[in-house]
Amino acid sequence: MMTQETGPPSSLDEVRGWFPKIDQLLFTWFLERQERLGERGDLVELGSYLGKSAILMGRHLREGETFTVCDLFDSDAPDDSNQAEMRGSYSSLTRRAFESNYRAFHDRLPEIVQGPTSLILDHVQPETCRFVHVDASHLYEHVHADIQAAHVLLPAGGLIVCDDYRSEHTPGVSAAVWESVATDGLRPICVTTQKLYGTWGDADAVQDDLLDWLAARDDAWHEVQQVAGRRLVRVKGRGATRPPNEVGRLKERLARADKRLARAEDRLARARGELEAVRGSVSFRLGRAATALPRALRGRRP
Ligand SMILES: C[S@@+](CC[C@H](N)C(=O)[O-])C[C@H]1O[C@@H](n2cnc3c(N)ncnc32)[C@H](O)[C@@H]1O
Repeated sequence: MMTQETGPPSSLDEVRGWFPKIDQLLFTWFLERQERLGERGDLVELGSYLGKSAILMGRHLREGETFTVCDLFDSDAPDDSNQAEMRGSYSSLTRRAFESNYRAFHDRLPEIVQGPTSLILDHVQPETCRFVHVDASHLYEHVHADIQAAHVLLPAGGLIVCDDYRSEHTPGVSAAVWESVATDGLRPICVTTQKLYGTWGDADAVQDDLLDWLAARDDAWHEVQQVAGRRLVRVKGRGATRPPNEVGRLKERLARADKRLARAEDRLARARGELEAVRGSVSFRLGRAATALPRALRGRRP
């Protein structure tokens, strides 16, 4: 965590918070990809602290979209355990400090919900968002509810990012995140040391694009793992391991293109099989006979 000098910050590095460079890079990529694909929707952040991640998210807000942040800031937590968390980690936080940081980078403040994240569904309509960052309490009950709220806010293709999904001091977050994967259809796209990126939509398509992008970068290392039969991309910032060389990158792209082709051929073969099954069915043949007879009779007319 960076310390913040007095006076307004002039770069994100000067804003205190927990937002590693690799996640800044990935947030930017995910949000820009949505922009490229014309995916519109609002942005939500649960847990903003002094605004480090919110300031970056705010850069991607487009005309007609709303950015809502929800944080307790300097108000009371809804229960004792949460209050203890607040005392331990965020005791000097104030809404004013958040606002002054945010204003150093943006003309307009986001919509601010000052209170527990359980209020978010009173302020943001279901399925109106394209990106939700879950980064508030670390207690299981809160995170579980935050992820459920994100599921309500995001249409199928939307993105959720969960912070601290694997830290030693945040087992409640891990439990809530993986529970959602196991029982609620959340599909992880990629993980970094600190965050898990997922969707309730098509993770494969995003992963294909992400892998193409990562293959051409020298400032991020990655690998692909299989978790419970599904792909999961693991990403680390540069310096963690050597970046792959050019030949390696091209081989990776080729292997991925092969896999995509194989998947497409598989879908085509399945569709052909289904078509043949329909053609062979009694009702299809009866239907054909019913339309063929009048045609044959018409054909006989002088
Ligand atoms: C880890 S910090 C957020 C870090 C921030 N996203 C950044 O980039 O630096 C967690 C924030 O969640 C807030 N918080 C904790 N429990 C909360 C709750 N129940 N409802 C709303 N906000 C909460 C804290 O006030 C704190 O600002």
